[in-house]
Amino acid sequence: MTLETSIGKVKLKGPGMVASGIMDETGPSMVRMLSSGAGAVVTKSIGLEPKAGHQNPCFTEVKGGFVNAMGLPNPGIDLFKDEMDVAVKAGPIIGSIYGANADEFAKLAGKMEDYGACAVELNLSCPHAKGYGMELGTDPATVKKIVGAVKDAVKIPVWAKLTPNTDSVADIGVAVQEAGGDAVVAINTLKAMVISPELRRPVLSNKFGGLSGPAVRAVGVRAVYDLYAALDIPVIGVGGISDAHDALQYIMAGACAFQVGSVVAKNGPDVFNMINKGLEAFMFDNNYSSIGEMVGVAND
Ligand code: DHB
Repeated sequence: MTLETSIGKVKLKGPGMVASGIMDETGPSMVRMLSSGAGAVVTKSIGLEPKAGHQNPCFTEVKGGFVNAMGLPNPGIDLFKDEMDVAVKAGPIIGSIYGANADEFAKLAGKMEDYGACAVELNLSCPHAKGYGMELGTDPATVKKIVGAVKDAVKIPVWAKLTPNTDSVADIGVAVQEAGGDAVVAINTLKAMVISPELRRPVLSNKFGGLSGPAVRAVGVRAVYDLYAALDIPVIGVGGISDAHDALQYIMAGACAFQVGSVVAKNGPDVFNMINKGLEAFMFDNNYSSIGEMVGVAND
């Protein structure tokens, strides 16, 4: 029995990756995630220039998850080289990048490739950054242009992280595939707001943000199911995974690998070993010998 899985050309020892934005802004934190059983780490989304992000409060807990609007804080791609130098020695690192247009994405992807990333993940889905993320990622023509430009710029696989804040996630997936994209990642956070009745105003400084955690899992599983049916390229599942049972829902919907975010923020990185053990127990009990055998079985 093996937990090894492949996302096209990217081969992982285990199917669970750290989702972008969680313990992945420094080299040492990425190394720690890899040594805790994560099959790979997706970096915090990095842009061309350093960005301070939004003022506090930018993160709040709700029943079943978190709502955040960090505001894409990051050191900028040039300074991020130092972190990548440390991280890539420890295991597979996927460079998450955000840009305002195809040209910016292509430049960023080229640098991530130079730094040793095994793939790039295009952030076409942040729900609250003016001019970035989901504002680009809900229009199939824009998605095609960005993915096409990045494919021309790099040899490493190009993944696109999609938003659930649209009625046509499969159409966006088709645009990624038609532009030569190597995989889709679904889902990013759902656009959300928390109001403090005492203060009579939204809690976050940005007013709205993105909902993550167990509350979004059923939305993500549905998106992966639709994408698997519509596409030939691999699908990676993310959104509200806390244990092996949650991960299996995504795998059986059609994901060949998955990402874990909020539960790592809440309970720490040991969750990867716990999920891996749970997957092995399920596979043993149900006579599966590989992750690949379970991918998409709920679609039959
Ligand atoms: C941020 C949030 C996201 O959901 C995302 O995809 C990228 C960045 C942020 O607030 O930093």
